[in-house]
Amino acid sequence: MKIALGTDHAGFILKSAVVDYLTSRKIEVLDLGAYVLDEEDSYTDPAFRVGGAIADGEAEAGVLLCGTGYGISIAANKIPGIRAVSCETPENARIAKAHNNINVIALGGRTTKPEEVPGILGSWLDTPFEGGRHLRRLNKIAMVEKSTLNVHMQGGGRITIFNHPLIQHKVGIIRDVTTSVKQFRELLQEITGLMVYDITRTLPLVDKEITTPIEKTVVKSIEGRKMAIVPVLRAGLGMVDGILQLVPNAKVGHIGLYRDPATLQPVEYYCKLPFDIEERDILILDPMLATGGSSAAAISLVKKRGGRRISLVCLIAAPEGIERVHSEHPEVEIFAASLDSHLNEHGYIVPGLGDAGDRLFGTK
Ligand code: RB5
Repeated sequence: MKIALGTDHAGFILKSAVVDYLTSRKIEVLDLGAYVLDEEDSYTDPAFRVGGAIADGEAEAGVLLCGTGYGISIAANKIPGIRAVSCETPENARIAKAHNNINVIALGGRTTKPEEVPGILGSWLDTPFEGGRHLRRLNKIAMVEKSTLNVHMQGGGRITIFNHPLIQHKVGIIRDVTTSVKQFRELLQEITGLMVYDITRTLPLVDKEITTPIEKTVVKSIEGRKMAIVPVLRAGLGMVDGILQLVPNAKVGHIGLYRDPATLQPVEYYCKLPFDIEERDILILDPMLATGGSSAAAISLVKKRGGRRISLVCLIAAPEGIERVHSEHPEVEIFAASLDSHLNEHGYIVPGLGDAGDRLFGTK
């Protein structure tokens, strides 16, 4: 485990106690300063450095120090995905982890003694997050956060929610019970296409020399990475064309799963993937991430056949589904056009849009 550490001048007095305790537990410390005691050092920069390191995946969690732990946690909480709280006792730290799943703990150099550090940090590190109703609350907070930026870390996994106005507008129409089958099909393709524009943002580019009618020049070209899209039958089929319009050379696999009525577990009835799946960037398409059972099973199937770089693309995700997928496949990034509230007693996403397969194919 790697923990990022940051302090201002007033927290500096606790720094060596924190480093000693973490190192005694064989935890790697990513020291992001301050490195010397300087009365001018403010808590803002170390808070942003530590928050940024966690958001970028360089560290799993963080410890922040200032005079009280207050200012530095307020600053760190401005970074999306950071949940920082100042804890003065081991009991505060236990509750903050069990209920709020804090990924950053702040301590005060003026309120905490060095000898109290192991008790507080130990309580934070050793307490598990309780999930359940607490996860639903954190997800509500994440929904507000998404209006400012669309990348979140949840339960250790990465999820991107698309807050682009065009996507949100179209999601609003597709949810409407009066939207026709024809409109539904068109909208699902359009939304998927808009999402892919952003999903492919990190594709590596290489320089390539070409000749324009005027002269030779160097242009950018997408490096020869190959993509595979794998819809989960049947509703995933509705997302395929939206991607192929933009990435026409992508290969398409198919996965068919049904839910065993006795065990309620997903069972494979069809799986055909591109032969070189292990070399491809794979987008698994499943519009409704509800319980997460079929998406998690589809990811496992693709992994069993050699797939390595896998993302899951959904239209609407429920917190329960995100938790399930990330608990089984924490390295899989989830992309969704909307993060909804919860599942109802029938396993439907609320507010959702009903059964995407039925609405896509007009079967109900
Ligand atoms: C610095 O004097 C002090 O205000 C700061 O470390 C912190 O306690 C703020 O919350």
